[in-house]
Amino acid sequence: MRQEPTISYLEQIGHAVEYIISEFDQPSEVGIILGTGLGQLISQIEILHEIPYDKIPFFPVSTVESHKGKLIFGKLSGKSVIAMQGRFHYYEGYSMKEVTFPVRVMKKLGIGHLFVSNAAGGLNPDYKIGELMVINDHIDLFPENPLRGKNLDGFGVRFPDMSEPYDLSLVKKAMDIAEDNGLKVHQGVYAAVQGPNLETKAEYKYLRTIGADAIGMSTIPEVIVARHMDLPVFAISAITDLCSPGNIKKVKIEEVLAAAAIAEPGMGTIIKSLIATL
Ligand code: HPA
Repeated sequence: MRQEPTISYLEQIGHAVEYIISEFDQPSEVGIILGTGLGQLISQIEILHEIPYDKIPFFPVSTVESHKGKLIFGKLSGKSVIAMQGRFHYYEGYSMKEVTFPVRVMKKLGIGHLFVSNAAGGLNPDYKIGELMVINDHIDLFPENPLRGKNLDGFGVRFPDMSEPYDLSLVKKAMDIAEDNGLKVHQGVYAAVQGPNLETKAEYKYLRTIGADAIGMSTIPEVIVARHMDLPVFAISAITDLCSPGNIKKVKIEEVLAAAAIAEPGMGTIIKSLIATL
């Protein structure tokens, strides 16, 4: 027999929001999710308050060592931001509802835009390690969808449109910012798989064939939920390893983190400058 949960998902979101407001009662304009090895942007935020995830009722807690796990409230480029230092991956064992719980909470806290970063493998043969790719579309290969089940009508419609998941005016602005700053930035399609293993050579070939430029294990669930709530999204990948024919090597997490560190300053410039334009 299936046991009914004692408290609904909506109530859980409500409790998390209530707790956060009791700690820090100022509306936020932009939500930022920082990917693997990409937490440095935090140092550019004028921090007003921090809340560790494990203090927030019903908030998942990150299990990956390279993620610290707290919500940071502050100012970046003159805007009020909430940054998630550490995100939740499906491969850690969370359900998609858990992975995307913070996005619902951030929306309730007032955000009007979502910014997302990640580390990704480069499938496009033009890409090099440490370069950036602004995501202009995606291919969802996860086996579960965060919107599956009863629709949360208060947040959005049953069948949300996905014809422009990434705000193309922000994509254009980001490319202009990159050019103005002399940064080599690609734009392309991000595909996501559940992981945690990396892909076989045959899978990389398949992913390239179906139209992906970069491959990772995150971002798409959060983007789907943000779009369900009509939040404009900007997302950017740091290319941390090469998955194009002739370039495939064994991937080590240390190398992924080192490549993310190379990409990080440029990513910071783009995100900061873009937030200033909102
Ligand atoms: N595959 C999947 N996810 C990744 C990769 C990859 O090659 N690199 C960084 N995240």
